[in-house]
Parts: sequence; structure tokens; C-alpha cells
Amino acid sequence: NEWTTEMRYRPYEKWNQTYEQQLIDAKKNSPWHMNYHIQPNSGLLNDPNGFSYFNGRWHLFYQLYPYGPVHGLKSWYHLSSTNLVDWQDEGYGLLPNNSYDSHGVYSGTALPVGDQLLLAYTGNVRGENWSRASYQLGAWMDQNNHVTKIEKPLIPTPPKGYTMHFRDPQVIPYGEGYLLVIGAQNDQEEGKVLVYQSANVTDWTLLGELDFTNDSMGFMVECPNLLFIDERPVLIFCPQGMEKTVAPYENIYPNMVIIGDSFDVENVKIVNPQPLQNLDDGFDVYATQAFNAPDGRVLSVGWAGLPELAYPTDTEGWAHCLTLVRELRIQDNRLYQQPVAEHQALRQTQTSVQGTLAARQAVVTNTTNCYELEVNLPADSQGTLSFFADEQNNHKLALHFDTKNGKIILDRSQVSLPLNEVFGNTRTITLTQNQAVKLQVFADKSICEIFVNDGEYALTSRVFPQAGETHLFIEGNQGEYTGNYWELRSSS
Ligand code: FRU
Repeated sequence: NEWTTEMRYRPYEKWNQTYEQQLIDAKKNSPWHMNYHIQPNSGLLNDPNGFSYFNGRWHLFYQLYPYGPVHGLKSWYHLSSTNLVDWQDEGYGLLPNNSYDSHGVYSGTALPVGDQLLLAYTGNVRGENWSRASYQLGAWMDQNNHVTKIEKPLIPTPPKGYTMHFRDPQVIPYGEGYLLVIGAQNDQEEGKVLVYQSANVTDWTLLGELDFTNDSMGFMVECPNLLFIDERPVLIFCPQGMEKTVAPYENIYPNMVIIGDSFDVENVKIVNPQPLQNLDDGFDVYATQAFNAPDGRVLSVGWAGLPELAYPTDTEGWAHCLTLVRELRIQDNRLYQQPVAEHQALRQTQTSVQGTLAARQAVVTNTTNCYELEVNLPADSQGTLSFFADEQNNHKLALHFDTKNGKIILDRSQVSLPLNEVFGNTRTITLTQNQAVKLQVFADKSICEIFVNDGEYALTSRVFPQAGETHLFIEGNQGEYTGNYWELRSSS
């Protein structure tokens, strides 16, 4: 059935509860329902928002449209945690209910200020002829998780020379005060990142356009995040419509990273930026949000999904999940990402795996499609690991490795439910040749997150196996592989 604009923007209270319960049940009973990834109770989840540590707990919100697998009237849905793995459902955090956010509480961030948590977000408003207005708004969450919206917008309009495609504010402490980093589009329809400054988080002055590249970033930049790792600035952002000659990517829109040497606030400049890198080299990551956590770590979480694409769970009325929480670091001028160590809390029985790379063999005889796998591949080998495979290995998500030539290819061409094939079925990464490779793989029912060489690369893919596609095979030409396998428990 058609999702009309009227349906997408219908006030939540006008949907009937039986319908909502049906959606919740369909999601719960789905074979693709994940065990330890954050996913919506119903409807569509997109960007992570407000990832923060406040009042003794981790807080995480996400963009939610609860009434179907489409982008409709968005809210922030709230979760909290003590270990970044088990999440408590805190219900809605921010609902669209006033003249500044009537058509959606869009993405933003959170920052503890005094004894409250500041939520900074974009209010989306549609006017006559569906014209767009965008307000940068604030709200205070107190120690009881009670949220009060700040009446006056933090930033009431985009600056002169920019369109209403102005969204996704990130507020960070800087010097004696604060910076706000936001995605923008100028009147020539070029994507930009703007930076504001404030002494008090409510009165903001524009510093200017962030200078981080001489290349065109396409028509819009979404979800910019400025972080500091080893005192170096790191910009994580989503350029839309960027030429592939600027930096190669294959997803509909990429989630990119730039690392600089230093940040020059007077000139609003990332000094000596390295070339753009894909944040994740798999098929399905966008809108990653990261922050400098008070324990010294830099943590991120992404949307395992992409704008404008269809996924098989759409027919069940729900869509998407978040990635695992990752810890970021810089090594050899690359951004490294690994799932936070807290994920070890999910491990159940450990099985060591090993063998000679030859004809196809089971790494473990059968799986629940809910496991962590560590594999060490020898330096001079070629072969394939098959995840979510059927017994005959006809259908699978394949990872082809060639350590001799330093190549890994993630290949979804043989999955039983093909996915967005116009964006290609393979993703390739290049590694040092003739070097042993370490893989850490997290499988969870309909997602696979693969980390290469302690986080040098991450490849995240949704996959939608059919009944019986639970096997895990390895094959290759020569050498010994070793590793460990853990069944993982469900998170709460
Ligand atoms: C990115 C995005 C953001 C926006 C939000 C709306 O996926 O388009 O720019 O704030 O989603 O849900």
C-alpha cells in the first residue's frame, strides 16, 4: 500500500493501538529480528542521536518513525545503559509537538552541562506548498530523564547565503566555551559544514564555514561530527552527491572521515587534512555519531542503513538497526574502529577453531547466526569465508581473502535475498601484501560487522538469510587458520 504524505505526517495519537501492536508483534516475530543490536520496537529507525554519558549512565537516542518502514514524522527515542551493550528502554525522548518541530524532531547531539543534559537538534517544519523550514533547537534533560524544550531556538535561521537544508547540530565543549558544528547547503547548492561558537550553549555566533577540503562535497553534508583524537581533529560526515573522483565510494551516500593535524579555530580550519576515507567499507553504514567520552575513549555508533533504499523487512513493517558501539583511535593516519571491549559480556561458550585451508569445511558445525568469530589467516593464502550459508553453500555472504596480494572482497552476490544491487554486490579493501590478517566478525541474525586487523577497516552489511542459512564455512588453497568462536547472548 501507498504511503501518502498525509499518512507519514499523521499525528501519532491518530494511529490506532491495534495497528501499533500488530507492528510490534510483526517485528518481534521476524526471523531477522536481531539479538544484540539496537533496533526499533516498530517502524523505522535511522540516525543515532544524543550519544552521551550523563548522570552515571550512557544515553543514546535514535531517529524513529514508529508507524511503518518509511521516513515519516520523526522523534528521538531514548535508551540508556551502564555497559554500552545492554540497553534500557526509556521511551520517547523528544516528540514533534510545537511550531518549531511540527514535522519532525531531526538529528542532533547531547552534552552534559551543569547537572543537566543539553539536547541539541533540528526542528523540521513544512509550510505552504510543502516548503521547508529548519530550526536549531535545544532541550534540557534532568536527572530524572525529564525533558523540557527550550522555548527559543538556539539558531533561528540559516545564515544569509544558505538554504533551509541546514541540520544536525553537534555541540562540543571547546576552550572556555562551546562549538556547534552543523550540516548546510549554500545558495549555489553546495554541501558545507558551518561552525558556531557560544560561551553558554544558548547564544550562538557564526564563526564561518569549516575549511577542511578544496573539493566539492556535493549538494549537502549531513551529520557532521568534530572530534579530537590524540589532540588531532577528526571530522566524520556524510556528503551527498559528492563526485567519486574526490574519494571512491559505492554506497548511495558515503559516511566519510577526514583527519587533520590540528584545528585552527580563528580560521575555522582543519590544518593539513589527510585524504578522505570511508568510515565503513561495507554496504550499510550512514550518519555515524561519535563523541569524546569522559573516560577518555572516543566512541561512535552508526546507522546500519542508508537513506532512500528498500530492505526486506519493509514488508514486515520495520526497518534498520544501529551498529555496535565502537571505540575510535588513530593509527598510521587512519581511523581505526573496534567494537568496545564491553561486548565481551555477550560471550557464551568459547570454541577454538583451526584447520588447514583446503576444500570447504565448517568452521563450526552449525550456528545460531548470533556469534563472534575471530580468525587469523596466514600471510600467503587465498580463500573464502562464507557466512549465513545454506548447507550446500549455494547461498552465503562471502568474504574472499587473498593475503598474498593484500585484498579482501566482501561479496553479497550469492545471498538469497539480493539487496540494492544497483550499488554493486562487492566491496574491496586493500591491505599490506604477504601479511597475516586478523578478522573479528560479529554476526547477529540479519547483520554482519567485520573488523580487519584490529580495526584498520570495518565492513558492515545487512543480510537477510532464509531458514537453514546458518552455516559458517571456510575454504582456501594453503596454510593454517586459527581462531575462536563464541555464541553470543541476547542483550537486554
Ligand atoms: C540523515 C538525516 C539527517 C536528518 C535525519 C532525519 O539520515 O537525513 O540529516 O536530521 O536524517 O531523520
